[in-house]
Amino acid sequence: MQTVNQLMEKIEYAIRSHNLVWNSQPPVNLYEPVAYAMSAGGKRIRPLLVLLGCQLFSDEVDNALPAALAIEVFHNFTLLHDDIMDHADMRRGRPTVHRQFSDNAAILSGDAMAFLAYKLLLESRTGEMQQLTGLFTRTALEVCEGQQYDMDFETRMEVSTSEYIEMIRLKTAVLLGCALKAGAICGNAGDDSADGVYRIGINLGIAFQLQDDLLDTYGSEVEFGKKIGGDITANKKTYLLINALEMAPPAVRAELTGWISRKEFSRDEKVRAVRDIYDLLNIREKTEQLIRAYTGDAMELLDNLPVDEIRKEKLREICLKLLNRNS
Ligand code: IPE
Ligand code: IPE
Ligand code: MG
Ligand code: MG
Ligand code: MG
Repeated sequence: MQTVNQLMEKIEYAIRSHNLVWNSQPPVNLYEPVAYAMSAGGKRIRPLLVLLGCQLFSDEVDNALPAALAIEVFHNFTLLHDDIMDHADMRRGRPTVHRQFSDNAAILSGDAMAFLAYKLLLESRTGEMQQLTGLFTRTALEVCEGQQYDMDFETRMEVSTSEYIEMIRLKTAVLLGCALKAGAICGNAGDDSADGVYRIGINLGIAFQLQDDLLDTYGSEVEFGKKIGGDITANKKTYLLINALEMAPPAVRAELTGWISRKEFSRDEKVRAVRDIYDLLNIREKTEQLIRAYTGDAMELLDNLPVDEIRKEKLREICLKLLNRNS
């Protein structure tokens, strides 16, 4: 069995090798943004989950490496388009692709990455190729559905907590579920076990997006690598905002809806004012509670997975690390 560090080295080495190709492949204006995005680091949590999902059932983790890369390339593709949609200028401490190159570059290089992801996935060594590509295709569509709800909710005032959870399940959690399950499939897990790890990924993914939303308001820009306050500026219906709208007494609610409806405002002033309201209502603590609950559910599902205890330890370690992340 391999340590988390060894698995991460495998992932980084494979990405570096592909970046060498993308950095010199014509047309330069198509592939250079791909290499730019893929070389910027990031936590590489999804490819790690693929390899850990495989290692729950098998020591042949190399069989899952193409799927791991495919899912990381797919994830980065979604970020290229997401940053245009969210008007985000900074990611991983650097200008986003559409700022560094152009909107057109981020659109077309993003499209290319979606297909590069399929190309990588088809290199997987598994007898279950149809199951793997079916899972990946379904997941990709669900991510688009989640992104659409995320955009629709920006201009809708009434969004319930359950609608929010469903939105983040689709835009974020299904890809973490897909990562773990793809690894399990490459590790020759049976159907029941593969479905079991998928459910772990969904719970972990919901906690992950809740934490992302929390860091978008309360994180440190240097550690998080993104501009703080983007969700507040865009009126994203995060768990933070939905709860504040629900819990605020009338006068505070009026102030909050005032900020949401205002067309002209100073960005810093709006972010500060909304965060002050969150502080007043203890929204941070409430969100942390929900993150712990979903992480706890993921851990419980992992406890009950019929796999040797020793094979579960590394995944458990990653769950706890994600719970306390700042980036
Ligand atoms: C960002 O994902 C998009 C979300 C689903 C929250 P990550 O936080 O995994 O981003 P990187 O890849 O580590 O930069
Ligand atoms: C992104 O959610 C989800 C996807 C890209 C599918 P966010 O918009 O919150 O991600 P960040 O905060 O920009 O990384
Ligand atoms: Mg977004
Ligand atoms: Mg975004
Ligand atoms: Mg975010």
